[in-house]
Amino acid sequence: MTKRIFSGAQPTGNVHLGNYLGALRNWVALQHEYESFFCIVNLHAITVAQDPAQLVEKTRDLARIYLAVGIDPQVSTVFVQSDVKEHAELTWVLNCIARMSELERMTQYKDKARKQQENITVGLFDYPVLMAADILLYQTDLVPVGDDQRQHLELTRDVAIRFNRDYGETFKVPDAYIPKIGARIMSLSDPSKKMSKSDDDPNGCVLLMDDADAIQKKFKRAVTDSGTEIRFDESRPAINNLLEIYHLITRKSQQEVEDHFAGKGYAQLKGDLAEVTIEFLRPIQQRVREITDEQLDAILDQGREKAEQIARVTLEQVFKRTGLSL
Ligand code: TYM
Repeated sequence: MTKRIFSGAQPTGNVHLGNYLGALRNWVALQHEYESFFCIVNLHAITVAQDPAQLVEKTRDLARIYLAVGIDPQVSTVFVQSDVKEHAELTWVLNCIARMSELERMTQYKDKARKQQENITVGLFDYPVLMAADILLYQTDLVPVGDDQRQHLELTRDVAIRFNRDYGETFKVPDAYIPKIGARIMSLSDPSKKMSKSDDDPNGCVLLMDDADAIQKKFKRAVTDSGTEIRFDESRPAINNLLEIYHLITRKSQQEVEDHFAGKGYAQLKGDLAEVTIEFLRPIQQRVREITDEQLDAILDQGREKAEQIARVTLEQVFKRTGLSL
């Protein structure tokens, strides 16, 4: 049987190069080999306050981005999380499987809670359980994500294994697919932090919808390391990060990239990087603008139907096993 992949992104702002290089790029590459489900996880988005009208727009914008970067709705299922009620229902059951102590250990929760301090919602705490439900509903084999989701994937596996042990074999235990290069694209303004849409400094983060001027400016201001050599070297995180981005976008080998920059300076690296990024994003931005509302609605409706069918089968089984269906 064809193996399945499931992944998703939050419609909480603009998609950035980290999202693309760490995750979406691999979804596109894997979709022809696997039966694929790509979700816009709006239930996750409301774990922090959202403006309702904007959330609708951001949800639709993210769907457009999925399609524009190359997710093919003829072969992949693209859908909105809140359209498939089973995600919330399975989350409740899994809430009664996951342990408080497990969730308290989640570093992403601890980071976000530290920043927010007050008014942390129960939803933010429970976020990884909803993510486990997303994945387990589809009997997923592989979950292509960036490095920051590694711990959530481990929790998903633990919850699946515990449920299977207590109630009988029900869920497939999924594996994470985390690329060797690109799983952790760093901020351009602080290479000790990952590139993030919630970065305080907007210059650290290149958005997929940024115009040429913004891209040029952001790469120009990018922090560099001491020294002058331009080669892959993890002990020089700023240059390493810029080279990884260049390598992934151009699809040139690491050796070719190093040869290209041999004897050149940082200004050239930044200029070339801006140029290839602008050229790479141009057709994607064009496609985002071309997708009509009607096309988008049709794709999301079709996605919902396909996702629902599979999610329902899993949830019925879970209800039977746990004594919830009479
Ligand atoms: P989100 O929306 O924060 O990010 C979407 C994807 O982008 C990856 N990513 C990065 N990769 C490399 N470098 C970076 N700087 C970088 N920043 C983000 C993330 O790892 C992710 O793969 N919890 C998830 C969404 C989710 C999900 C799921 C994913 C909900 N349910 C089920 C997989 C399966 C999240 O917030 O991703």
